[in-house]
Amino acid sequence: MMLLRLPGVYRAEGDTEMVTDLMCRGGFAHGRDVLDVGTGSGALALAAARAGAATVTAVDLSLRSVVATWLNSRLHGLPVSVRQGDMFTPVTGRRFDLVVANPPYVPAETDVLPRHRKARCWDGGSDGRAVLDRVCAEVTGVLAPRGDVLIVHSGLCDADLTVAALQTSGLDARVLARCTVPFGPVMHGRAVMLETRGLIRPGQRTEELVVVGARNRGIRNWDTRNGDTRNWDTRNWDARNGDGRGHG
Ligand SMILES: C[S@@+](CC[C@H](N)C(=O)[O-])C[C@H]1O[C@@H](n2cnc3c(N)ncnc32)[C@H](O)[C@@H]1O
Repeated sequence: MMLLRLPGVYRAEGDTEMVTDLMCRGGFAHGRDVLDVGTGSGALALAAARAGAATVTAVDLSLRSVVATWLNSRLHGLPVSVRQGDMFTPVTGRRFDLVVANPPYVPAETDVLPRHRKARCWDGGSDGRAVLDRVCAEVTGVLAPRGDVLIVHSGLCDADLTVAALQTSGLDARVLARCTVPFGPVMHGRAVMLETRGLIRPGQRTEELVVVGARNRGIRNWDTRNGDTRNWDTRNWDARNGDGRGHG
């Protein structure tokens, strides 16, 4: 989908594409109330609307992202309610059947999160988990019974920690998809720092992207939603996205 992107707004990348594809192929959005938290240019929100979501709400801290998403929803004639604010604050009191998130997750020099523009799109504190951990801890506050969560991030942030954090929040969670991609410009720029800190091997210039899925407890068979287990087959993911677009 062609999207307008204002300066300083995240351009939809391989991570966006990966979670979008899983959301659409898995039938997660159809007929459901969907929240896209950290919407950027609105790529996930618009894909959910196009996939037949009952309602779509998009939230971002950045005013430019909110404007870009609003413009893109009008441009494509897809209904998305856009809110500016921190994480789940703008939707306090509401419940969603699906929450999707592509949070900032690139490990940075410090734990201080940037306040401005592009860096806010990808800096996730020193371990990359500052925003990610908040999503895991706070998402149940807006999740409907039987609601699902889809979160994409780098394997450098440790997918097992995400699964554990979501389980601590009371959800059934697991890694649904993985694919290995070459570093984009942002990761290349941090490669030496990441090597020094032992987050990547010397000379490593690829990262694994992961999609972690979580579901409110009470669903007996996680694998057979829509009766089609192929929707959940993570093996297919390894062969795709070979162009390896990542952050930046
Ligand atoms: C990696 S971008 C993802 C954009 C889009 N969802 C996509 O997949 O292309 C992360 C987005 O999260 C937003 N963001 C960062 N911290 C946030 C917070 N505390 N609350 C809401 N949005 C936040 C950033 O402004 C940025 O637009």
